[in-house]
Amino acid sequence: MRIVLGVTGGIAAYKAAELARALIQNGHQVQAVLTAGAEEFIRPLTFATLTGQKVITGIFSSASPEATLASSVEHIGVAAEHELLLVAPATANAIAKFAHGLADDFLSTLYLAFPGRVVIAPAMNNNMWEHQATRANLEILRRRGHLIVDPDDGFLACGTYGPGRLADIAKILAAVQGNNRDFAGETVLITAGPTQEPIDPVRYISNRSSGKMGYALAEAALARGARVILVSGPVSIDPPAGAEMVRVRTAQQMRDAVFAHLDLSTVIIKCAAVADFRPTSEAKEKIKKTSARIALELDPTPDILAELGRKRGDRLLIGFAAETGNLREEARRKLESKKCDMIVANLVGGPDSGFESDQNEVLLALRNGEFIEIPKMTKREVADEILTHAIELKSGAALEQSSK
Ligand code: CTP
Repeated sequence: MRIVLGVTGGIAAYKAAELARALIQNGHQVQAVLTAGAEEFIRPLTFATLTGQKVITGIFSSASPEATLASSVEHIGVAAEHELLLVAPATANAIAKFAHGLADDFLSTLYLAFPGRVVIAPAMNNNMWEHQATRANLEILRRRGHLIVDPDDGFLACGTYGPGRLADIAKILAAVQGNNRDFAGETVLITAGPTQEPIDPVRYISNRSSGKMGYALAEAALARGARVILVSGPVSIDPPAGAEMVRVRTAQQMRDAVFAHLDLSTVIIKCAAVADFRPTSEAKEKIKKTSARIALELDPTPDILAELGRKRGDRLLIGFAAETGNLREEARRKLESKKCDMIVANLVGGPDSGFESDQNEVLLALRNGEFIEIPKMTKREVADEILTHAIELKSGAALEQSSK
C-alpha cells in the first residue's frame, strides 16, 4: 500500500520512526508528513533515512522561490497518490482539527483532501484522552468511518498511569493491514454489477449498477481470509486480486452460475442489480428504425434471491434492496419474502450515494428485527461493516444450533 504517515507533536513521535520501519518491512511505501510540533520531538532526517523519501514538514515546504502550481498544491497530489492516511501519534489537537475541518498546516490540509481510508492512533495524557471534547471529536471521526486505534493503558510521560499511551506497533500495523481473519474457512459467493437483457444484437435492457459495492465486498472478504467466488455482470472495474471470477451477462446466466456454486458456499451475498424483466424474444437482426411506435414485450426474469431463500439450507443469505422510498418497510418486506438473514437497503437516486459513487450510506435490516444505520462512508468501509454484522449473525446461528 502507498501510505502517508502523519506524525504530530507528542512524546510518542519517536515511536513513529519504529512504525515507519515496520510499515516498510511489511512491503508498504511510506510518505512521512511531520507537523511543526512533531519536528520538536524528532528530526525529519530520521524518517527520510527510514523511508527513502523526502519528508514533508510544512505547508509551503516544497514551494521554492519559483514555485509551480503543482508544488503549491502538493497536498492534493499527495492525497490522490496514496491509499491510506495513518496518523500516529495523533495529538488531541490534531484530532480536534480533523473533526472540525481546520486546515492550517500540511497534515490537516492533506486530511481534508484525502479520499482514501484513514487510520488514527491517538496518544496523549490520560485526562486529555478522557476529556469530553476529545471523546466528542473522536466520535465524529468514527462516524466518518475512520478507524481509531485506541491507546493502551500504561505509564505516561507526564508521570501518571492510565489510558493514553500510543498503541503497540503490532496493533497499529494490524489495523492498517486489516489483519482480521474472521472469514478464514468461509466461502463467500458474491454477485455484483448489473445484468444485460438483449433486445437485438446491439441493444439491451440494463441498469446503472457499477459493480463497485459487490467488488468492495469481494475485496473485504478476501482481506479477511475468505475464499471468494464473484459472479459478475458486465462492469468496467478491475476484479479484486484473488477472487474466482465467473462472468455472466443475463439474469438467467447469473442464476445458473449462482446455483452451480451453491454447494461450495457458506455465505451468499446477492449484491447484483438483476434486471427484473427481459425481452420476451431477442431479435436475430438489428431492429430497424421506423417512424411507427413499437412495443417491447417483457417477461419477468428468475428471482435468484427468492429461489436461494428456498434452497439456502443453513448458509447465511444476504440480499440488497435499492429503494427510492420507504426504506425500512421495503427492507423488512424483502427480508421476509426472500427468507434472508440480512437485507442491505439503500436509497438510490440521490446525488452522492448509490450506483456510480465510491461512497454509500445503507440501512441493515436483520432477521431479529433490528435495524442498523451505516452512515455515509466508502463502499469498502461499508463492505467491512456488512461483513462484521454477517459474521456475528453466523456465530449467533452456530450458538443457537449447538444449544439445541
Ligand atoms: N434479485 C434477484 N433476482 C432478481 C431480482 C432481484 O436475485 N430477478 C435480488 C437482488 O440481487 C437483490 C434483491 O433481490 O439482492 C432485491 O432486489 P431489488 O431489485 O431491490 O428487489 P426486487 O425483488 O426487484 O423487488 P421490487 O422490484 O419490488 O423492489
